[in-house]
Amino acid sequence: MSGKIPKYFINDLLFRTNIIDVINTRIKLKKIGKNYQTNCPFHNDKTPSFTVSYEKQFYYCFGCNTHGNVIDFLINYENLNFLESIEELSLIHGLSIPFEKNVTSKKNDYFIKQKLYLLTDQISKLYQKNLILNSAAYEYLTRRGVSKNMMKFFCIGFASFTWDLFSKQFNIKKELEIELLNNKIISINKKKKIYDPFQGRIIFPIHDKYGKTIGFGGRTIQKTLPKYINSTETNIFYKGKQIYGLYQVKKKELQPKYLLVVEGYIDVIMLTQNKIDYVVSSLGTSITKEHIKILFRNTDTVIYCYDGDEAGRNAAWRNLKITLPYISDKKTVKFVILPENEDPDSIIKKEGAKNFQLRIKYALTMSKFFFKNILKGIDLSSNDDKFYLSVRALPLINSIPSDTIRIYLRQILARIIGILDDYQFEKFLHQQKQNNKIVQYKSKPTLMRTLIGLLIQNPNLSNLVTSTKKLKNSKTKGIPIFLEILKTCLKNPNFNTGQLLEFYRNSKIINILKTLSTLDHMIVEEKIKHVFLDLLKSIYKKDLEKRQEYLIAKERIHGLTINEKKEIWSINKTIKK
Ligand code: UTP
Ligand code: MN
Repeated sequence: MSGKIPKYFINDLLFRTNIIDVINTRIKLKKIGKNYQTNCPFHNDKTPSFTVSYEKQFYYCFGCNTHGNVIDFLINYENLNFLESIEELSLIHGLSIPFEKNVTSKKNDYFIKQKLYLLTDQISKLYQKNLILNSAAYEYLTRRGVSKNMMKFFCIGFASFTWDLFSKQFNIKKELEIELLNNKIISINKKKKIYDPFQGRIIFPIHDKYGKTIGFGGRTIQKTLPKYINSTETNIFYKGKQIYGLYQVKKKELQPKYLLVVEGYIDVIMLTQNKIDYVVSSLGTSITKEHIKILFRNTDTVIYCYDGDEAGRNAAWRNLKITLPYISDKKTVKFVILPENEDPDSIIKKEGAKNFQLRIKYALTMSKFFFKNILKGIDLSSNDDKFYLSVRALPLINSIPSDTIRIYLRQILARIIGILDDYQFEKFLHQQKQNNKIVQYKSKPTLMRTLIGLLIQNPNLSNLVTSTKKLKNSKTKGIPIFLEILKTCLKNPNFNTGQLLEFYRNSKIINILKTLSTLDHMIVEEKIKHVFLDLLKSIYKKDLEKRQEYLIAKERIHGLTINEKKEIWSINKTIKK
């Protein structure tokens, strides 16, 4: 590969480069003796095992054995290929690569990139000038509250409504036009008319980490759809790797304490205008692993602050799931949940910067957000729900590489489920797995529906119910209907199903009765009595379990009275039986 770039050039480049500087701008190194050390960026390192030698211009990790020179470091750390890492180093020293004479595709690729940088930058500057000349666009931004400073700071521009207008305005030469066309920055339609894909749109230039313009986002100032568009991907612009606003953040602070990730361009700009200096966004695409790696390379705490709507909440949850494998003892993620139908731009306008800062200060921790979401719709008094909860939660928790955090979350989960140690937790999971296998066969119609169905189809089963006291206290769904039918059956010992249905003809519950009178329970004749009694028992047991849960919960928070203590003791005994 290096045949295409002269060896002397690479040597010269390495000679000029100090590996310590290159690494130190990315991860803080500490000088210890002759060498420099830090926690290894390539594995989940708790002690500083990553060592860089100035003399050797070489790095080595005692923990995971990765090693190499500055080029290897860039390849591994920045996910670059060989040529890109040479480009990176050349850029640091302001050198251009003197490719060897034979034309190769690599070389072409390099020149294509250089050309694209140049053209993108050129047209970006024109868009910027054009904004000032175009009152509709300028007023649009002003109306939305964007200050002149921010327009400059983010290099905001405007693409005129037609290319003709734009090219006349700036006296664009035919040669440049052809180059822009060749590089697909502008296009030509079927009628051979040139147009700018961004025409009629406010331009938000997207910068790479060196501040080079690599692409654009554009918002219509009319009602045109879609509201926003992005440049298509080119050799210099990969959406899944780019973070809007990061260059501007790093201009102010190389390693900010937080990075607040929002959804929109305007959100980034308005928050920055309000002196929140660490706001970025992922170009309206969903967060990728690449984004997360970049975010964590630049900060220890990522805070997601998405719109207060269904889409925003879903995206935040999705982001958490993607982020979990990158969480470590040092790298963490938090969440700001905005009120319904607000986005960062609208809320900071409403309540001011101070209040917004408070939202950031009190952002939900990862574990709070995790359990808040995963507990939605879960009934903690139901064992099935608890099992469902753990089935959903455990794979996510297990995707966290950090032992401490993983164990911490598992403990919270176990506590929520009401189990105090890991051994019992495993036992619970195992038992539930077994139960669920059986339940799947049996329980299509719920327990209660089967019970009522059996009674309607065999009214004489009512004789088996010796006391209704326990049932009357039960909170199980459907109990009132069951008791109602039971009462009628007991009063009319000779009723058959038809008579029972007739009895309820004009009542509210007739439809339920009809449905359940034909319920196919598939229980053989001889077993019906037995099953009926079993079902009753399970209802009693469920009630006891619910009461037990309640008492255990109460004990943790308020303590129990003597009677309650006696009660829980007797419940424990009964359940064990
Ligand atoms: P929103 O629809 O939430 O827009 O899209 P917004 O940022 O609040 O926009 P304003 O306030 O109406 O100007 C959030 C982000 O999603 C991307 C853009 O990056 C936008 O900033 N997006 C949105 C698109 O890419 N295409 C669209 O059609 C809409
Ligand atoms: Mn908005």
